[in-house]
Amino acid sequence: MQLIPLIVNGSVVSVTADGDTPLLDILRNHLGLLGTKFGCGQEQCGCCMVLVDGHPEKSCGKALSTVAGKAIATIEGLGTPDRPHPLQQAFLDEQAGQCGYCLPGILISAKALLDRNAAPSRAEIAEALDDNICRCGSHIRILRAVERAAARLREGGTR
Ligand code: FES
Ligand code: FES
Repeated sequence: MQLIPLIVNGSVVSVTADGDTPLLDILRNHLGLLGTKFGCGQEQCGCCMVLVDGHPEKSCGKALSTVAGKAIATIEGLGTPDRPHPLQQAFLDEQAGQCGYCLPGILISAKALLDRNAAPSRAEIAEALDDNICRCGSHIRILRAVERAAARLREGGTR
């Protein structure tokens, strides 16, 4: 067991756990951040995606020891029901989810894309979301939602 510091959604936290523990388990079971989902557990589906120092990473395959001292952003850090991130608002506006299980991971991947590319093409959005599986087949609405959010952010939407 080790005491490992993390910065999660802007707050410094310390976790006592085996360094091999997957980050996903730490987020969900130690920190109570249930927005990040467990899907395959084998780095195949993307629903456990979080940002690690701004880069999208699959937290089911990320050992705790490898993220010590790093900044982790989860879906809980993106926005709130009262103040949704433009991506979250765009997904609502486009009704982009069906069951919604994939959406935390997709929103995180989309956030990483828009942080580095304010005006992505549809092909660039699809490429950025290539690691995220949506079993409900909402792909077209998801692409439209990311385009809508990008436009909103370019017009001065907050965050
Ligand atoms: S649960 Fe991590 S990629 Fe599927
Ligand atoms: S909305 Fe159900 S898996 Fe994507």
